[in-house]
Amino acid sequence: MDERTVALLFKLAAPYLTVRFNREHTEIALAFARELQEKLGGDRGIIFPAVILHDVGWSAVPEELHLKAFGPGSDPGINRVHEVEGVKIAAKILQELSLEAAVREEILRIVGSHDSGWQPLTLEEKIVKDADKLFRFSPRGFAIDVARFNVDAGEYWHYLNGMKEKWFFTLAGKEMAARELEKIAQGGKGYK
Ligand SMILES: [Fe+2]
Repeated sequence: MDERTVALLFKLAAPYLTVRFNREHTEIALAFARELQEKLGGDRGIIFPAVILHDVGWSAVPEELHLKAFGPGSDPGINRVHEVEGVKIAAKILQELSLEAAVREEILRIVGSHDSGWQPLTLEEKIVKDADKLFRFSPRGFAIDVARFNVDAGEYWHYLNGMKEKWFFTLAGKEMAARELEKIAQGGKGYK
């Protein structure tokens, strides 16, 4: 997938990324997806659109429910709604691109299971899931989550440090999570 198409997709997705820091979240997740793809391979024509579109469904979930849908004490039912709605919106956006049917279906399958599926079927799906999770480990994502979950930064750092052993489907993803946590620790106030 060329950079012009990446930019076009971002433009088409932008109206659906105005809630819960999703524009910033998606840009950071895409940067991690690029790095994972460079390290591991995988089809950029599936990975990049799936990352750009994975969270467009949040725009269809009432905002007062957002904080109940993820993070500590979350409700998986609400979270599932953003996947189902996301597939509908992503399908509409992808009509603007001339894609093979199989590619379009695969992108939509990943959008529809990016948070709830624990058995990714393909390398592309693993990369999308890992890139999405890596946001939480980036210094900017960490700062956003500490503020919106209203948690203690030191405790949250240790929570993430434990979860990095469970959440990632690729070794590269786990190593990048450790690297990002190290950045946070160095910039932080003695979390370690
Ligand atoms: Fe996400």
